[in-house]
Amino acid sequence: MFADPTGGRFPGRSQVGQPDADGAIRLTDSDAALARYSAVQKHYFNDPFIRPLLSRGAQYQPPRPPLINVGTYVRSEAIDSLVNEWLSLSQAEGKKCQIVSLGAGSDTRFWRIATGPQKDVLASYIELDFAENTTKKAMAIRKSRELSIPLGKPEDIKITHCGSALNSSVYHLVPADMRLPPADTLPPLLCPKGQPGILSPDLPTLLLFECVLSKSSTILGGVVYEMFGLNDSFGRVMLNNLKARNVDLPGVEPYPSFQSLPSRFLNRGFDASVALTLKQIRTTCISSEELQRISHLELLDELEELELVLQHYAITWGLKLYNRERGLNAAWNTWGLKPYHETREDEY
Ligand SMILES: C[S@@+](CC[C@H](N)C(=O)[O-])C[C@H]1O[C@@H](n2cnc3c(N)ncnc32)[C@H](O)[C@@H]1O
Repeated sequence: MFADPTGGRFPGRSQVGQPDADGAIRLTDSDAALARYSAVQKHYFNDPFIRPLLSRGAQYQPPRPPLINVGTYVRSEAIDSLVNEWLSLSQAEGKKCQIVSLGAGSDTRFWRIATGPQKDVLASYIELDFAENTTKKAMAIRKSRELSIPLGKPEDIKITHCGSALNSSVYHLVPADMRLPPADTLPPLLCPKGQPGILSPDLPTLLLFECVLSKSSTILGGVVYEMFGLNDSFGRVMLNNLKARNVDLPGVEPYPSFQSLPSRFLNRGFDASVALTLKQIRTTCISSEELQRISHLELLDELEELELVLQHYAITWGLKLYNRERGLNAAWNTWGLKPYHETREDEY
């Protein structure tokens, strides 16, 4: 049986001609949610919001192996760090910002921000996914006080589009198939008739593609978490396992090497882009205290295997700055994961 080695999160589109071709893609979200729940149960991090989003009975599944928990931890910490810094830079500039999570699935990031110290910096947080997944999430939000209270007053929470869309003052859940041209699908959802649009062109905007691949604001950032380098034996096994689940990886194929990853952004007019593998992030961006702490959580006897897996996953971030002439944007150039330790070349 297939197992996702860094937390059950796979992008992709299903293969044309398969029965319920998109079902396989949507199901990758259950893997992702279970992996997160497993890491929480093992105390890698705390997330009170994941449990109400699990499918029925999922909490009784056995925890994931240590290797997967460590992968989930490294990815989650790194993306949290990029998001938190985005919020801090917006705040330092006296602006609110907006975050759009594409293929958000059961992600809990909105709730973690909305109950944290930077909650007032968010102007809007938009999550997109297939209607089947957004319907499930809207229902879970309705049923759970933990999830609905951070959205604001009950009378300000509106569920529309046959239960698949949810709007509140800051949080918006939007059903959309991202393979379709956005101009056809998104305007009625993001700019409902007679109401102001949900997204402002004037605010720093961060796009998150966390294992999902399928203008403009003054400042636009993007974060992509994906596999790469799948032309070795590890990659071939991974691709075959995914094929067996009717999932392929359109977001991975065009970027086969580590060096090619920043071109995800640079070829689309972004000004700067940097990629780090999860292996690099684990060794350079996580503090020694944290590494010590997680090393005591579970027995991990296959360090080589962990590193082999982590070096096939990367987080790539890109930044596009407008209005440079106003001289407002220099601080944004510093946005990115910061090393705690110097790492030797051979550790990469
Ligand atoms: C592996 S899950 C990741 C969920 C979340 N980003 C996370 O990291 O926990 C991938 C998600 O992307 C969604 N997705 C993939 N392709 C999509 C498409 N074409 N349109 C809308 N959603 C899509 C899936 O339904 C699924 O919820």
